[in-house]
Amino acid sequence: MRVLLVGSGGREHALAWKLAQSPLLTMLYCAPGNAGIAGVAECVAIPATDFPALARFAKDNAIDFAVIGADAQLVAGLWDVFETAGIRALGPSKSAAVLEGSKGFVKDLCTEIGIPTAAYQRFRDAASAKSFAHSLGYPVVIKADGLAAGKGVIIPTSAAETDTAIDFMFEGGFGASGHEILVEEFMEGEEASFFALSDGVHVIPLAGAQDHKRVGDGDTGPNTGGMGAYSPAPVLPSALEQAAMEQFIKPTVAAMAARGMPYVGVVFLGLMITKTGPKLVEYNCRFGDPETQVLLPRLESDLLATMLAARDGKLDAVTLRWKPEAALTVVMASRGYPGTPEKGNVITGLDEAAALPGVTVFHAGTQARGNDTVAVGGRVLNITALGRDVAEAKARAYDAVEKIHWEGAFHRSDIGWRALNR
Ligand code: AMP
Ligand code: GLY
Repeated sequence: MRVLLVGSGGREHALAWKLAQSPLLTMLYCAPGNAGIAGVAECVAIPATDFPALARFAKDNAIDFAVIGADAQLVAGLWDVFETAGIRALGPSKSAAVLEGSKGFVKDLCTEIGIPTAAYQRFRDAASAKSFAHSLGYPVVIKADGLAAGKGVIIPTSAAETDTAIDFMFEGGFGASGHEILVEEFMEGEEASFFALSDGVHVIPLAGAQDHKRVGDGDTGPNTGGMGAYSPAPVLPSALEQAAMEQFIKPTVAAMAARGMPYVGVVFLGLMITKTGPKLVEYNCRFGDPETQVLLPRLESDLLATMLAARDGKLDAVTLRWKPEAALTVVMASRGYPGTPEKGNVITGLDEAAALPGVTVFHAGTQARGNDTVAVGGRVLNITALGRDVAEAKARAYDAVEKIHWEGAFHRSDIGWRALNR
């Protein structure tokens, strides 16, 4: 089977690494990939945003199956482009990707089918948004309806900040994604992620994970795409995983089918574990980054066969096997991130790190330059380790981090603290 993977981050390196282990695979391409992905796939220099070129490449190279890493491409309809060209691909379709593409759609769906989530209202004008936000009190949550590169949520703590945030969104601070906004009640609790796979009708659980969104130790400083993660997450014991499936994901997949937009693909459920039980924060329509880097090392089963079963409506026949170990990943980033990162510095110690027991180094923002590997992104590497428990996985991952250097590299030193403090 000839497979094309679309994307270039740490999530895509983990997907490529796992797909490459499939006995069904004969050839793996990745567009555009990175220096680490080049070790397990043939990288092709097509940007993930160039849909016509991706479809043409897939046709010309007899691709049997395509896997799309990022939400931006799914929401923009890359699945539809592949399937229209006769290439099987793992979705969701553009219409079903509304589950991530419109926060307002999801909240309305939750209300209709009784999924617990924060109180909210949708707005198209600033004055009524402000008056509702003031009535909720502070902190309050202001969200752009559409995708905003993970930055579309502002949590003001005063009336003045609230007005500024609402004006910013309606004045185009997040472009067209902010033409409509949501104002939500602030939920207190601990966040967790749960992943499942849907074929449109049947849904199977993948696993839970927890990431660390803030840039600094102790969960301080600006938000990032995620500075580290681990799986399983002790905040999600099996009763809560079951609740995630039965009370959230299965009713959502059934409702999407009933609305004529069957959801086929990865369901990424963001939960807040509150005093009154789990509540939905959001849905994403793809694997998490860096959560994938801790899910896939734990998966025993064949990922490619599983994805094909999802695409073909056959997940009822699939039961996944998981390793008993825990996995933890530490993101190494470049100075400047989550703002503008420094680029072009040479990375050393990659082989020494990867040789340590249980360790896999996934690349996110790297490029080959001659015989060197250079840092070219904000998040550069994901140092991942398996261990008997989160503590051992953490110790192994940080031993590997110590081996790796480049000018301007930094990382958090406390990934896993919530799990270890329980
Ligand atoms: P989202 O893009 O919807 O995941 O929101 C980004 C982050 O904002 C989440 O990961 C939460 O940390 C936070 N957040 C979003 N909605 C709420 C809410 N209603 N209450 C508290 N925190 C929230
Ligand atoms: N790590 C969070 C995300 O992938 O959206």
